[in-house]
Amino acid sequence: MPEELVTQFKDNYVETEAGKIAIVTMDNGEDYRKPNTFGLGGIASLNACLDRIAETQDVKAMILTGKPFIFAVGADLNQVPEIKTKEEAISVARAGHAAFKRIMDLPYPTVAAINGAVMGGGLEIALACDYRTISTGVTAVAFPECFIGLIPGWGGTTLLPKLIGPEKALQIIITNALNNNRMISGREAYEMGIADRLYEPVEFLDDTIKFTVGVLNGTEKVERPQPDFSNVDALCDAAQAAVEAKVHGMAPAPYRAIEIIRKAGEISVDEGFALEDEALGDLIISDQCRASVYSFDLVQRRAKRPVGVPEGAPLAVNKVGVLGAGLMGSQLATLFLRRMTVPIVIKDIKQEFVDKGLNYIQTEMTKQAEKGRIEKTRLPWMLSLVKGTLDYQDLADCDFIIEAVLEDMSLKKKVFAELEEYVSETAILATNTSSLSITQMASDLKRPQRVVGFHFFNPVAVLPLLEIIRGEKTDDQTLVTAFDVARKIGKRAVLVKDAPAFVVNRLLIRMMVVQWDLVDEGNTFKEVDEALAKLGAPMPPFVLLALVGPAIGMHACETLVEAFPDRYHISENLRKLVEMGKGSVYGPDGNVDEEYAKVLKVADPPKKSTPQEMIDRTCEAVTDEIARMLEEGVVAGPEEIDLCMILGAGYPFWNGGITKALDYLGYSEKVLGRKFHPEK
Ligand code: NAI
Repeated sequence: MPEELVTQFKDNYVETEAGKIAIVTMDNGEDYRKPNTFGLGGIASLNACLDRIAETQDVKAMILTGKPFIFAVGADLNQVPEIKTKEEAISVARAGHAAFKRIMDLPYPTVAAINGAVMGGGLEIALACDYRTISTGVTAVAFPECFIGLIPGWGGTTLLPKLIGPEKALQIIITNALNNNRMISGREAYEMGIADRLYEPVEFLDDTIKFTVGVLNGTEKVERPQPDFSNVDALCDAAQAAVEAKVHGMAPAPYRAIEIIRKAGEISVDEGFALEDEALGDLIISDQCRASVYSFDLVQRRAKRPVGVPEGAPLAVNKVGVLGAGLMGSQLATLFLRRMTVPIVIKDIKQEFVDKGLNYIQTEMTKQAEKGRIEKTRLPWMLSLVKGTLDYQDLADCDFIIEAVLEDMSLKKKVFAELEEYVSETAILATNTSSLSITQMASDLKRPQRVVGFHFFNPVAVLPLLEIIRGEKTDDQTLVTAFDVARKIGKRAVLVKDAPAFVVNRLLIRMMVVQWDLVDEGNTFKEVDEALAKLGAPMPPFVLLALVGPAIGMHACETLVEAFPDRYHISENLRKLVEMGKGSVYGPDGNVDEEYAKVLKVADPPKKSTPQEMIDRTCEAVTDEIARMLEEGVVAGPEEIDLCMILGAGYPFWNGGITKALDYLGYSEKVLGRKFHPEK
């Protein structure tokens, strides 16, 4: 276990016209990149600090604040896997409660001066104070616990609804957390009533001291509306229904949080804390929490240092080319422009296609400026960096060119061969192919070492994953540059071997094959979708198929059928769907498309499967495929498979991507006779 980086609580005292004020600063001695967290060492430091303050004469008030940019971001998650029993988990919960309760019981006013990021236990210690001031510079206020298999169990689930009422508390604790841990700003927190005063960052601590003096001498009056619990059951029922639709009973944490919020209006603080202890006791040792902590670590740490990338300096990329101005090409050009702000040339084969792409870029960039993500004054200049063309000559001085033309090997080979005649010897040729071989694509080129796979996921702005594929001849410098570009455009890149359909598509399609089998055997699309929603993907399989497009799905499957005919095949029903040009198996009313229903051929008599059987077959197939991929060395380890499923397919943290869930649900033992993550 990594040792706890202990957050120290340091007390200083200022004399004011209203008397002595203790100013406590939380600081773990590192800069903002390692935010303050609380483990048992931090709690001990808090207790020692409170002891010192108790021994100090004439303290009239206490102010608690953080280090630059950070107030505190909550419990030290590294310690979670070390907690093995419910009793240990409860004692950790109690230790936090007891220390925070000491703050609540102080006989004089206490003020949390929230100067920076505040999450989880950080927000709970602030709620333990009598008052809160917050800086307009704060951008991250959240209770992420339910997102990672826990509840805000050091007081948050009890105190937040008591402070701002159940509706807003549900918003922060449940809705925001399950919405990929959405955070709110200091201003929003103030407007919701979490903080009593909002101050500018420049004079923030001085303003907070003035406020505290005002509280002491009676010139500052804080008025808070009485929280309204009259509607609490209806609100909690609605929140529970939303949770059900999202996690399908597979992650216990949000349900436990709702249970406590439902009661928060009528129970005492101590009763609430006891319920939190009990809930944390169960949750900390749950499979979902452990898997979430693993996922959190993957995304926070492993994704930032991709495994297998060679050493070396990247080449400079001062101009980018994009081939194909279609669905992907336009999104890629927009991303490169936004993130790298270099000249971009986008090429297609007809002026109308080029214009459509340019239009898209302009519309998207304008939207970004309206949302304040790009400075409005810079927008015209940024747009002037983009040029549309029909002529390769305009790409001659590009350092990095990505192709996003149709998914067709001969077309891609032809396009690269033509391009190679114009560009410099060091120019990198990246391909956004979703399934084709990079080695083959580069095979007839003069400089195959310059070709690399750069596989994005649609929608490009939403999904953070980039699969970077090394072809047989791709050289180190190309790879290093590709990873550098990935970092500059804000994507999380995973190094993947040149294997059919790479990682995410290979796995999703292996599952899709089973799902079409289930339909062919006589289960309805709805039955399959409902059963498999439980696996935790952001949407059920046949809804996903509509998003991807049946033709694209089938096309990617063809590559896999060719490579692995023993495991992949294309259902005749899928083929028909594509031939009919349908975008989905479902019609606009949510039932199976009427025309399609007439041609759908299923087994007679139908062979129905139970939901559990459907899940079993899907999970067993995907377990088998992952084991094969690891054996082939497609990625460095199961961690990379999980990163890909979390970042590229939106799989939830509590599944640990996918391999952790396959372990704790028993599929890896059943299929392989071993776990993907053997217990140490
Ligand atoms: P699309 O059909 O929307 O766009 C392709 C564009 O390429 C069209 O505008 C076409 O006119 C243009 N084009 C054709 N020949 C060309 C040439 N010689 N020079 C320049 N442009 C040419 O296709 P989409 O969906 O954007 O896919 C592009 C690539 O991205 C494919 O390889 C696909 O597999 C891959 N991809 C697609 C994803 C998706 O969800 N649609 C996700 C990830 C990758």
